[in-house]
Amino acid sequence: MAIRDIVKDGEPLLRKKSRPVDAFDAKLWALLDDMLETMRAADGVGIAAPQVGILRQAVICELETDDPEKPEILEMINPVIAKKSGKQVGPEGCLSVPGKRCDVQRPKNVTVRFQNRNGEKIERAFSDFNAVVTSHEIDHLSGVLFYDKEVKSPKKK
Ligand code: CO
Repeated sequence: MAIRDIVKDGEPLLRKKSRPVDAFDAKLWALLDDMLETMRAADGVGIAAPQVGILRQAVICELETDDPEKPEILEMINPVIAKKSGKQVGPEGCLSVPGKRCDVQRPKNVTVRFQNRNGEKIERAFSDFNAVVTSHEIDHLSGVLFYDKEVKSPKKK
């Protein structure tokens, strides 16, 4: 595994659409392994392939579980949000946009169809924090950054 350079906001690549993955091979696995190592080194909870300069539809999310000591690392290849419901607003940041945080509106619940690193098709539902992380990472695959969806809080009186 190796830590890769994180593409920063302002680089045009980050705004491009990623292509589907069609080969579930050693090259993909190396990319996923490097993405995880890069995410951990940067202390993030999610990373998308375009953030390491690869315009392919692959993301990694660190999800909350019932045990706060044991988050789940989930790889999603070719993910599509099949269903969403509800709303939540909360602060977000991004490894590609250092120093910026703002409130973003996200669905409260999402159902995602994706493939794992072996190409097997999976459907899973996520809520609350996990819906935020998955939505944020999947947005990267369309060139969307979190602050595009900034919710400005009403002015305090
Ligand atoms: Co991000």
